[in-house]
Amino acid sequence: MKIIVDTTEAISALAAKRYVRLLRSRPNAVLGFATGSTPLGLYAELVRLCDAGEISFRDAMSFNLDEYVGLDGSHEQSYRWFMDHYLFEKIDIDRARTHVPSGLDTDSATAEAYDQAIISTGGIDLQLLGIGNNGHIGFNEPGTPFGSRTHMVELTDSTRQANRRFFKSLDEVPTHAVTMGIRTVMNARSIILMALGTAKADIIRKTVQGEVTEEVPASILQLHPSVEVYLDYQAASLL
Ligand code: GLP
Repeated sequence: MKIIVDTTEAISALAAKRYVRLLRSRPNAVLGFATGSTPLGLYAELVRLCDAGEISFRDAMSFNLDEYVGLDGSHEQSYRWFMDHYLFEKIDIDRARTHVPSGLDTDSATAEAYDQAIISTGGIDLQLLGIGNNGHIGFNEPGTPFGSRTHMVELTDSTRQANRRFFKSLDEVPTHAVTMGIRTVMNARSIILMALGTAKADIIRKTVQGEVTEEVPASILQLHPSVEVYLDYQAASLL
């Protein structure tokens, strides 16, 4: 694992440079995107670079990690809406080449087809990850088998509480999600894990320096050959 530590302001710009390098050498790269508050600065920087003509997503393709069950892509808390709003509508990517798991069609054949669609492109070149306070990646909660592929999950109370801030009440926070599995994520050729703020410091320490265990889903990243961890000083403070 390569650990990159800088200020909260600088870290998104550093991560964005990784995309500039990748898309210059491989314009048709397959990108794995994530949602949450952590990548917002990175996405804003990618929009700026695209506006400035320094990066182009014209030939790229994308697959998102996860989606809430029950939310249509037009729902403002759906991850499809999030991606359209914060990134896809603001860069030159072809929306037809962007993929987010369906929150409405949740049978196992559809989940399997998502993995197959990724495989048929030749695989994800660069997968972006945030991290949940409990170590989840995508929505793979603690205890998820490392061999899992795209599947439906029940969200833990702590994850629903953590994401409650985006909804009017806890009751409105979906109870389930569809997520790429851990195996799906680990199949990516390269991975970026981003974490910002003191609240992530403990789980980052466990992820980077702790035991590799299904109880800390992100700890599996220690076994991936090409991972860069982008942290601000706060998230890195316990390393
Ligand atoms: C959600 C997403 C994760 C994300 C996590 C952390 O649960 N499914 O992909 O990493 O939130 O979010 P934040 O970046 O807002 O801390």
